[in-house]
Amino acid sequence: MKRKGKLFVVPFLMAFMLVAVGCEDKYVAKGHKAYSRYCAPCHGDTGNGSGYNAKNMDPVPRDLTDGDEDYMAKLSNDEIFEVLQLGGYGVDLSGGMPVWGKVFSEEELWSLVAYVRTLHPNEENEIVFTKPDSKEALFNTKRVRYPMVREKKFDELLESLAPDEEAFDEQVAVGEEIYAEVGCNACHRVNGEGGTLGPNLSAAGFMLQPQFIFRWIMNPQSFVPKTRMPNLDLNEADALAISLYVSTLKEASLQNEVLQEEGDAEDGDTEAGGV
Ligand code: HEC
Ligand code: HEC
Repeated sequence: MKRKGKLFVVPFLMAFMLVAVGCEDKYVAKGHKAYSRYCAPCHGDTGNGSGYNAKNMDPVPRDLTDGDEDYMAKLSNDEIFEVLQLGGYGVDLSGGMPVWGKVFSEEELWSLVAYVRTLHPNEENEIVFTKPDSKEALFNTKRVRYPMVREKKFDELLESLAPDEEAFDEQVAVGEEIYAEVGCNACHRVNGEGGTLGPNLSAAGFMLQPQFIFRWIMNPQSFVPKTRMPNLDLNEADALAISLYVSTLKEASLQNEVLQEEGDAEDGDTEAGGV
């Protein structure tokens, strides 16, 4: 008898789950989808901060479920929107939380906020997407698009910011600092440190020209529209310094291993290959 009882519960639970998922609000569902692809590697599928990329991070990705403390519950919808749009370094938090305002439209960002709100109890107002009594959208639905950065841009900047060897070395040193500040290390490993969401860059200098690195980091989406690497909204001078720094990474022992990894990275190798 006992056994029969249990068997009965399982299909019942499954039916209930299907109903619950089916009821998910359209915008929450949209936010959920984007979350799974772009946020879960760090924040975890359930939002508790245990994504596979969280292991090597300091500070660790925020527990969005408020498992240990009431933190998210105290943030307003606007505050969550702002940190998504501007990233950690845009709001005086860690650069390990990337900038998303150059990847998602305003409406998509609010959809993400709406989904994040479902992960913890809170008393904030529900996010409204359309004007009262009409279907007109309240938020801009246009995705931010930047044209591909011109090849000449890099040459011009190099000439003005690093005209000789001394200036070049200075730029490399500056680039190393900014690289950590804006959170490149959250996703890329260099010499045994950093995340694993993106390819290991310890030997990137063997494979990638600084000119390509510059154009890639200024707007990765212009090469690979669905890449998990966000456009970090870097200014040109910072992007130049970072690209020169990355182009000096030449850890010989890793050369083959890294080539292998980059070949596996989604789409990235084809686009980068020809440049
Ligand atoms: C590379 C890892 C990484 C990814 C990817 C990432 N985050 Fe984060 N996130 C962090 C880290 C680290 C923090 C903690 C920053 C701090 O406290 O200084 C954080 C903090 C946050 C916070 C709390 C902000 C606050 O005000 O304290 C929210 C909300 C958040 N992330 C949402 C998201 C969403 C939504 C996405 C996907 C669009 C995302 N994160 C993608 C690493 C990441
Ligand atoms: C949220 C994670 C994340 C952050 C932050 C990030 N990257 Fe990436 N990066 C990736 C991923 C994922 C790829 C693989 C590209 C793809 O989608 O094909 C990548 C690819 C690259 C590549 C190789 C491009 C190619 O096609 O071979 C370089 C170089 C690079 N990133 C540099 C940087 C630099 C420099 C920064 C900081 C300005 C940075 N990344 C920040 C995730 C990230």
